[in-house]
Amino acid sequence: MAIVEPPAPSAPDGPESGAGAPLYLRRAALLEALAALCASPDLPTLRAELAALRAAIVPGGALRAPGGEEAVVFPEPLLQAELAQIDAALSLERARYYAGRLRKAAQGERTAAINEIDLNRWKAYDDIVTDSLWLIERRDGSGVHRADYWGNFVPQIPNQLLRRYTRRGDWVLDPFAGAGTTLIEAQRLGRNVLGVELQPPLVERVRDLVAAEPNRHGALVHVVAGDSTCTDFRALLAEQGAASAQLAILHPPYHDIIRFSDDPRDLSNAASIERFLALLGQVVSRVVDVLDRGRYLALVIGDKYARGEWVPLGFLAMQTVQERGFALKSIVVKDINGTAGKRAQKELWRYRALVGGFYVFRHEYLFLFRKR
Ligand SMILES: C[S@@+](CC[C@H](N)C(=O)[O-])C[C@H]1O[C@@H](n2cnc3c(N)ncnc32)[C@H](O)[C@@H]1O
Repeated sequence: MAIVEPPAPSAPDGPESGAGAPLYLRRAALLEALAALCASPDLPTLRAELAALRAAIVPGGALRAPGGEEAVVFPEPLLQAELAQIDAALSLERARYYAGRLRKAAQGERTAAINEIDLNRWKAYDDIVTDSLWLIERRDGSGVHRADYWGNFVPQIPNQLLRRYTRRGDWVLDPFAGAGTTLIEAQRLGRNVLGVELQPPLVERVRDLVAAEPNRHGALVHVVAGDSTCTDFRALLAEQGAASAQLAILHPPYHDIIRFSDDPRDLSNAASIERFLALLGQVVSRVVDVLDRGRYLALVIGDKYARGEWVPLGFLAMQTVQERGFALKSIVVKDINGTAGKRAQKELWRYRALVGGFYVFRHEYLFLFRKR
């Protein structure tokens, strides 16, 4: 089970790791101290070296650094936990193993090609979700994020995806941009983003919102009005000087559950499920064309209920993506917390469910695919 806490509202720039206050230590001296631990001939010697190391990381201690290139940064609770683990080891071999692991973490960054998570310090990223059940208690309402566009993202969704599947300077494609949650998060995190949205007034709104937020990393945020079933994403990216995209986040209408407009091109106005899937397939085919090989596509969608039957729209949409050159990497189930309006109808839905023999929707899906 995963409880996702929103990032601190006062930090629109968002720390990329969230485990406590940062501790700046002199890298070379720390490595030397850890090497001494690893070379200890017996447990008492190792524990004496450890006590000396602990004394040197207190404020004003010999290992404290003012910051800068030569400093290594650890969240303090994390470092203390690692040191406590070394101390608690019952054998010399185990204590040396933990000390060696910490030494590796202090040596420098080791990141995967598709993100900036330092794998040598993976324990520091306790706010990056890796479980397949997302329970989001409170939506992030920081900065310009608003909950007033019915059907928009909880900002934590794009935040998690961007940090997990992109690096700064990468290009993200959002063909159903809506009220711009992904674009706002991308700008905050220094990722470039191209958004396409059918409704021109929304595009204006997104531009205004994005402009009202600080752009600390100089991200390029481009949003245009258009029909994503026939938009030339490559040409739009090229206009921005980009040859391809490194992540696609698709949050289409859940067929006709919410009618977003009267526009016949709107996927929420598709005459049937089959037509909806065909249109979604057209968008995916265009996305696959500009997405780099090995990079990710995220699809967020829920199921629907029609004529007394549960329609597994999520799984049908999942197949539509899989058929277009993608390997399925994960199915995440995310809770849906009702808006005030929906809450008023909660009792009615409960009654209907009891009468009709069904369950009320409380979840949606986040499908993760990797381009083959
Ligand atoms: C579920 S909303 C996306 C919400 C968005 N993730 C956010 O956080 O604001 C789906 C959006 O897709 C748009 N849309 C529907 N059909 C489209 C099409 N053919 N091309 C582009 N956008 C479309 C709708 O206008 C709607 O704003």
